[in-house]
Amino acid sequence: MRNFDYMTPTRLIFGEGAIKKLPSVMSAFGKRVLLTYGGGSIKKIGLYDKVKELLKGYEIFELSDIQPNPKYDPSVLAGVKICKENNIDVILAVGGGSVLDCSKAIAAGAKYDGDPWDLITYKAKTPGALPIVDIITLAATGSEYDAGGVISRTDTNDKLGYFDEKLFPVCSFLDPVYTFSVSKKQTAAGCADAMNHIMEQYFCEDSTLLNDGFMEAGLKSLMINGRKCLENPEDYTARAEMMLCCTYGCNDIYSLGNSQSGWPCHAMEHALSAYYDITHGEGLAIITPKWMKHILSEKTVSRFVKYGVNVFGIEPSLGDFEIAEKAIEATYDFFKSIGIPMSLREVGIDESRIDEMAHHIAASKRLESAWVPLYEKDIAEIFRASL
Ligand code: NZQ
Ligand code: ZN
Repeated sequence: MRNFDYMTPTRLIFGEGAIKKLPSVMSAFGKRVLLTYGGGSIKKIGLYDKVKELLKGYEIFELSDIQPNPKYDPSVLAGVKICKENNIDVILAVGGGSVLDCSKAIAAGAKYDGDPWDLITYKAKTPGALPIVDIITLAATGSEYDAGGVISRTDTNDKLGYFDEKLFPVCSFLDPVYTFSVSKKQTAAGCADAMNHIMEQYFCEDSTLLNDGFMEAGLKSLMINGRKCLENPEDYTARAEMMLCCTYGCNDIYSLGNSQSGWPCHAMEHALSAYYDITHGEGLAIITPKWMKHILSEKTVSRFVKYGVNVFGIEPSLGDFEIAEKAIEATYDFFKSIGIPMSLREVGIDESRIDEMAHHIAASKRLESAWVPLYEKDIAEIFRASL
């Protein structure tokens, strides 16, 4: 087991009716609140009105229309401007991962005198951040329990992960009832995203029995409960368990003491959604089985055997490579069975920019130190196989 230094300072308030505690949580900060949200789903489910009612007596400023794959310009820049001009005390993010990610960048940008892009690209150190409280309405990213956000910049085709310990939300409200209205498409994409977060931690050099068991259970739970959520969107128990599996996704709790994998599928998918604005979880589901095939070798096969036997119940007496192939097929089949379009063409991506995207990803050299190193040629091959 590797050494680690771990802390998650975020308070989680979970369950139906959790939002009742919003006034007491918010009372720890000042009265000037920036309420951030997306394209209107929170109004349709009555959450916007509920928040306004609970926060009577607060001065509420608003930033709406934050899009999926949240954009630096206009959303982050607009939010920073509101914070600076109005001396905002706290940000209340209400929505999916995109709203929360955007709010994290705003929270830091509000404390910085220069261009907030300097923070996202780590050219400047994050000096501090406004406190962030969130009510997460989509089970997927785990942004509610981690210290990062992913921000897109259209003019440069960048989609960058921005992590800093100052970006942990101080408190996240998780009420599964608010996820009942999530569409089938987003429910399936959220399930695939969270499964991939686990796989990005599972497929590595060193793991422990404890972590493997935790992650295998997480994957099984996501598959069982993800399917139940699709069959009956108002199944509270299934939505609740799916939500918690997602919440754990990106804050390392699944893999404390493991070696790093380099999160290769995320690095590749972020380019796809930067160039084509596709849904993150769908992009991951499409490329993951192709990445698995690409990296399957004598060195990696034992991990696939463990995954295949423990997650999909594949017969352990078969040959190692046969189990691994079956496990990869089962991964693909599960994503397909929950309605995810399983080729890049189906989400509007053709051959034309594959080399450019592969070059863009490889330029950072980040994936050269992944569990199985990936170079420009590998990335292009994985994308081509995903067409
Ligand atoms: O904009 P509104 O109207 O709110 O609609 C949203 C949006 O259209 C809708 N939605 C959200 N909650 C809903 C709902 N519709 C009905 N009922 C509800 N309760 O769903 C659509 C997608 O929302 P979005 O926030 O984009 O989805 P998600 O939570 O999957 O976030 C995706 C973003 O998070 C990043 C992704 O790259 C992507 O940009 N990620 C963030 C991570 C992190 N912070 O740790 C890690 C992830 O790997 C991921 O990269
Ligand atoms: Zn993800």
